[in-house]
Amino acid sequence: MTSSARAMQPSPAATRRALEEAVAVAEEMDRRRRRNQLAVYLPYPKQRAFHELGRTHRERLLMAANQVGKTHCGAAEVAMHLTGRYPDWWRGRRWERPTRWWAGSNTTENTRDTVQRKLVGDPKQMEEWGTGLVPGDALVDWSRRTHGAANSLDSIVVRHASGGKSTLGFKSYDQGREKWQGETLDGVWCDEEPPEDIYSEGKTRTNVEAGLVMVTFTPLLGMSQVVKSFLDENAATLAEIQRLAA
Ligand SMILES: Nc1ncnc2c1ncn2[C@@H]1O[C@H](COP(=O)(O)OP(=O)(O)OP(=O)(O)O)[C@@H](O)[C@H]1O
Ligand SMILES: [Mg+2]
Repeated sequence: MTSSARAMQPSPAATRRALEEAVAVAEEMDRRRRRNQLAVYLPYPKQRAFHELGRTHRERLLMAANQVGKTHCGAAEVAMHLTGRYPDWWRGRRWERPTRWWAGSNTTENTRDTVQRKLVGDPKQMEEWGTGLVPGDALVDWSRRTHGAANSLDSIVVRHASGGKSTLGFKSYDQGREKWQGETLDGVWCDEEPPEDIYSEGKTRTNVEAGLVMVTFTPLLGMSQVVKSFLDENAATLAEIQRLAA
């Protein structure tokens, strides 16, 4: 190597700095990606059909096998209605203003470990809150439950694209019907099969705003009244579902 070529070589210190900068950029990109899961959500065909039916149907049930993406699908849709960040492919229901939601499962623990985890991030690690389907930069506030399962949230406040703020309250079926009364909501999401009285109370909360009721579960209670009410849908609706999910 000539002396002038040697002079072009970066010093070990400069090489180390460049490497550190590259690692920092990669870490920052990873952090941003993890805090914006909603931006990369692409539904599977049945999830897509479920979303699309929200434009024409107030009540929807996604009943499917274990681990096929029921909770992910429900959380992604709720996150869109809370933030107003609808992707280009979206053909479902749309609000241009902040919305009010409740979401829950059968127990406080399950609500924390499924619905809260999917929307907000790992309940046990506060520094991870903002890595769920509600993007980190939209999660502006939260309040913890004062009793019950540790690290359970009572509600979150989410920045909406219009400039206002949406809210989501976490509920559980074991709180009983009384705790599902009182508020006027735009939407309710039940992850796991709700008892009929909770389902009906949740739906009532959305009547004034002609809002949405979404239910996502693997049936464990057999042919319950809630399941039956969906399976009794008319043939035209069933044909529409099959066409959208094809
Ligand atoms: N459209 C999607 N794109 C990429 N990954 C997905 C999608 N939908 C679901 N997943 C992933 O599939 C896995 C299972 O999803 P999820 O927990 O929603 O399933 P589930 O049907 O609710 O499961 P369970 O029966 O345990 O309640 C998760 O890791 C989730 O991130
Ligand atoms: Mg699930």
